[in-house]
Amino acid sequence: MAADDAEDADEGEELIASKPDAAAHNGTLPRAGEVEPHAHARLLWRGVLVALCVLALGVAEGFGARPLLAALRPARGAAAPPPAPRAHPRGPWPNQSSFVPQCGHRQVLGTCAGYAECMDAIKDFREADFLRAARTAREGRPPLAPARPWCDRWSCMDHAACALPFKVYQYTRADLANHPLLSCLQTTNLSHAQIARHVTHEPKRACAFWFEVGQRCRNLPHASTLPYWRGNGINHVFIDHWDRGIDAAERAQWLGRAAIAQGHATAERWVHGLDIALGLHPRMPLSPSDLRLAATPPWARRYLLTFKGTHSHISRVRAGMHHDLARRVVLATFPHPMQCMVSTSLRRPYAMSKERRLSPLHADCCQRLKVFYEGYEYRRLMNTTFALVMPGRQPASYRLAEVLGRGSIPVFYGFDDALLPYDELIDWSALSLNVPIDVSFERTLLPLLEAAAADRPRMARMQREGQRVFRRWFGTRSATAGDHAILETLRRRFELEVRRRRLRSN
Ligand SMILES: *[C@@H]1O[C@H](CO)[C@@H](O)[C@H](O)[C@H]1NC(C)=O
Ligand SMILES: *[C@@H]1O[C@H](CO)[C@@H](O)[C@H](O)[C@H]1NC(C)=O
Ligand SMILES: *[C@@H]1O[C@H](CO)[C@@H](O)[C@H](O)[C@H]1NC(C)=O
Repeated sequence: MAADDAEDADEGEELIASKPDAAAHNGTLPRAGEVEPHAHARLLWRGVLVALCVLALGVAEGFGARPLLAALRPARGAAAPPPAPRAHPRGPWPNQSSFVPQCGHRQVLGTCAGYAECMDAIKDFREADFLRAARTAREGRPPLAPARPWCDRWSCMDHAACALPFKVYQYTRADLANHPLLSCLQTTNLSHAQIARHVTHEPKRACAFWFEVGQRCRNLPHASTLPYWRGNGINHVFIDHWDRGIDAAERAQWLGRAAIAQGHATAERWVHGLDIALGLHPRMPLSPSDLRLAATPPWARRYLLTFKGTHSHISRVRAGMHHDLARRVVLATFPHPMQCMVSTSLRRPYAMSKERRLSPLHADCCQRLKVFYEGYEYRRLMNTTFALVMPGRQPASYRLAEVLGRGSIPVFYGFDDALLPYDELIDWSALSLNVPIDVSFERTLLPLLEAAAADRPRMARMQREGQRVFRRWFGTRSATAGDHAILETLRRRFELEVRRRRLRSN
């Protein structure tokens, strides 16, 4: 997959953590050649139906943190806005942009002369069109739920096959001798003290079957011949930590009734109650200065709201226009290196793609934006009351864990059609805000954040809760905390259901 080769494209985006894995602008589409054309269209359509269904059922309720004020809440059933249509022909552009990077120190970046033109030339992004499209998309009536192509947590789990206490069986290499999926199997170490008691080595004793998928697995079509598949993959869970994830079409074709745990958890892929949205775990332990920062109360911090990163999601492009240093709001964003021919990466300080030719204006815009972007150091920006957390190539990001660990309060933005991680274990509304894509930064969001920051008891509670969640579900460098969260989610579901049935039959 060509897009995979942009590995490390985001490195330097977040100096503390780079993404390990694939770029995926087209991440929701099946890979070419793996789905025959009709099936392809049909399955995509099924994916769309599922998305509509999920949204219509009001699952948007479960999309995570309730915002501080109801005014910030996205309309129920609001789908992701369609990309803004281009309303004007391109160029001829002047060779020099009038955008001056220093302007961002005096006024809101989006109002600086030349900035919007650069965004338009590089990203094809005009905010007014974008907002109009976003608002139109959520004004209509929510779609009615069509029949579910898959199943729900009850029909996709065979609780009768589960004896308490709950145990999971992890597929081993020995199970897969000569099986095509052997090359896909990633064997996580589940012997960690916290979780080993939920693991069994006897498939007969297992409630659930754990299969962790390695990067670039192309053999999922062979899942149906796994030894404990039982015809439809019931009680299986596929864990995919890679940012491309497993899309709706792949699952419908190959994965039967299996659950999917992935970081790429967007509405059109999601089966409510069955799937699990994953988070990413920090790659580096907290340093002494991080710990000092973590102990700094929310109201004693340098900034009100910060973000630094590349334009790997439309929410980042829009947020970047509202950088406003005068209000202690630093939202430093930079086009994807593929568009700018200027890598932000420390490891690869050169252009990503030789064959992409940019117009002189692009190059000039890129250069000016780079001056602005590099004026802010990622670590310093962590000293903030609130931190914007936006999707990148997938909804899961390292940034969320970084923010929580350093005692900043996450503000999710761009999650209108994405799930927050481990949402059956974490009450996100107690420690974060979730903001719809078309919020007015200047008139609504920033005044609300300023008012919230003044409510010290509440800020202290949110910060404490964020750090507790960080330690419990995110705080280790290894994936152990994530494994624990997956197991815990499964355990609670099975135990609840088995107990409920037992009570009913007595
Ligand atoms: C931009 O520069 C190119 C060559 O560098 C030149 O041919 C072109 O006329 C210039 N365009 C404008 C609008 O100045
Ligand atoms: C798995 O983890 C356990 C406990 O943390 C450790 O004792 C064991 O050596 C690990 N096994 C492997 C293969 O790394
Ligand atoms: C965070 O910012 C505050 C206010 O500017 C400053 O007093 C404090 O030293 C900073 N903390 C760290 C750990 O940098």
